[in-house]
Amino acid sequence: MFKKDFPYFIDNETIYLDNAATTQKPLDVINSQLAYYENYCANTHRSSFGHANEATKRFEDTRKILREFINAEFNEEITFTKGVTESINFIASAYAKNFETVIISSLEHHSNIVPWHMQGRSLGKGLEVVKCNENLDFDFKDFEKILKNTPNSFVSITHISNAFGKIHNIKRIISLAHKYEAVVMVDGAQSLAHMSIDVQDLDVDFFAISAHKTFGPTGVGAIYIKKEFLEKLEPYQTGGATIHEVDFNHSTLLDSPYKFEAGTQNIAGVIGFGEALKFISHIGYKNIETIEKDVFKYLDEELRKLPNILFYNDIKDTTGSRSFNFKNISHDDIGILVDKMNIALRVGHHCAQPIMKQLGIKGTIRVSIAFYNDYEDINKLIEALKKALSMLE
Ligand code: ALA
Repeated sequence: MFKKDFPYFIDNETIYLDNAATTQKPLDVINSQLAYYENYCANTHRSSFGHANEATKRFEDTRKILREFINAEFNEEITFTKGVTESINFIASAYAKNFETVIISSLEHHSNIVPWHMQGRSLGKGLEVVKCNENLDFDFKDFEKILKNTPNSFVSITHISNAFGKIHNIKRIISLAHKYEAVVMVDGAQSLAHMSIDVQDLDVDFFAISAHKTFGPTGVGAIYIKKEFLEKLEPYQTGGATIHEVDFNHSTLLDSPYKFEAGTQNIAGVIGFGEALKFISHIGYKNIETIEKDVFKYLDEELRKLPNILFYNDIKDTTGSRSFNFKNISHDDIGILVDKMNIALRVGHHCAQPIMKQLGIKGTIRVSIAFYNDYEDINKLIEALKKALSMLE
């Protein structure tokens, strides 16, 4: 029903089920970027001619749209980045001096692990990992024990696991962390396409966003930084557009968020991101959640009918991604075979090797949906999986 808004699906046989990797882009998002390049291509926040002003206005419009979208209080709480990976690297680099230990969960993507190895450990920071149970549920008891034993800690946690679709109860995590005076960053890469976010209600300190997982362009994202932290952060890169005044001995920086946005930004991408947010608002999260719940349940039911299927979590508190294997069959082989049948999905470790190791597997077959997927997509997937299984038996 919604595929008509996405040029990718026009005259395209591909059944696209790799939405956790990236989502397709609506026509308005594509056109808004084209319009920038064709009609008013100019740099932002510098020159004073008409098109430069227009580019700056539209770029800043997205900041306002995103602020309202996640219910942040102030525009300056939104800094644009290349995506969640850069957002986490930025905060790891800019904030690590303020804490002793970083606490993550066992379901993290590599981009919420490696920056802590690189940035945190070089500054002598410890890394603690909260366990999960056999259904991949977050272990709150273990979390509280770690918080008690590690004063002055920073919690960096994914909202939804990219590999297994497991939803962390971030409101409860944030509230418990704050009880022990820990600061919290949430990796929201997988959540904004599926559910609404209210940063004030969550009381989160930092919230990282990727546009391309949310029907927007690649190479754009943002970090929400609660106002009280803005002055505690040093920019992790500086240069043009970040300064107030420079001489050869000394420079003074602009206020947030501009001091964090060095160099020419991905202007077309940011403008396209604004359109993606408008598009989501137009569809409405209520619709998105209803459709996805239904299709996700159907996916789970149909998968369960396949022989020798192995899941690692049930579908309670799970959304977007369903990960599985077939007993004694390589996930890579399934990936190669279903690709030949025009099914786009991801197989492998999904940039989450630590949890794969914990489960004693090398990877999974991951089907990840968005609201434009329908029963017909799932039927075609199941047909392709059946064929692939019959070839591998
Ligand atoms: N993080 C993306 C995924 O889960 C690339 O596939």
